[in-house]
Amino acid sequence: MTKINNIAIDNILTRRSIRRFNVLVPVKQSDIECLIECASAAPSARNSRPCHFIAVTKRELLDTLSKTLPHGKMLIEATLAVVVCGETERDGNKLDYWEQDCAAAMENLLLAANALGLGAVWLGVRHSLDNLEMKLKLMFKIPENIAILGIAAIGHPAETKDPHKGIIPTSFHLNKW
Ligand SMILES: Cc1cc2nc3c(=O)[nH]c(=O)nc-3n(C[C@H](O)[C@H](O)[C@H](O)COP(=O)(O)O)c2cc1C
Repeated sequence: MTKINNIAIDNILTRRSIRRFNVLVPVKQSDIECLIECASAAPSARNSRPCHFIAVTKRELLDTLSKTLPHGKMLIEATLAVVVCGETERDGNKLDYWEQDCAAAMENLLLAANALGLGAVWLGVRHSLDNLEMKLKLMFKIPENIAILGIAAIGHPAETKDPHKGIIPTSFHLNKW
């Protein structure tokens, strides 16, 4: 367990996947903008910035999402969803790192949510079965050259979880495997 007393480190270690939300309290517009600003600040290969974000606040859309995502039932209580998308190509050139860029943006978004006192969970879309990505692309009228990495379900938390602590000993390697 880290002994460093630092607000940014604490924010990383206290971030947990929150799946229960207070459905009656919307996420403030200023918080939505802060979340997207933090997501946009993530590192990006060749600084190509392929990420796009669709903020979903309409109740009926969130309810539809909760029924569409096989592991996204918590969206029925979330008051915000952010669809994290990436340009797979631009001007005829492939953007090979879009998925990694979007994953970095998603993590920034989750950390920002935690720092703002919101709860959030990453819902995988890319590589999921049942044509989920295509269903969502149709739902949000997403252009052909744009893919969906995942969706962050966000809201005012209605559950608490213990922080992360410690290193998984079998995953830590020093100088060689
Ligand atoms: C790529 C990815 C996809 C995920 N998809 C889902 C999902 O569909 N539904 C869900 O409830 N959680 C999902 N999660 C959250 C993980 O279940 C969660 O991060 C893991 O259980 C560890 O818990 P923690 O986030 O509290 O540390 C996903 C996480 C990642 C990184």
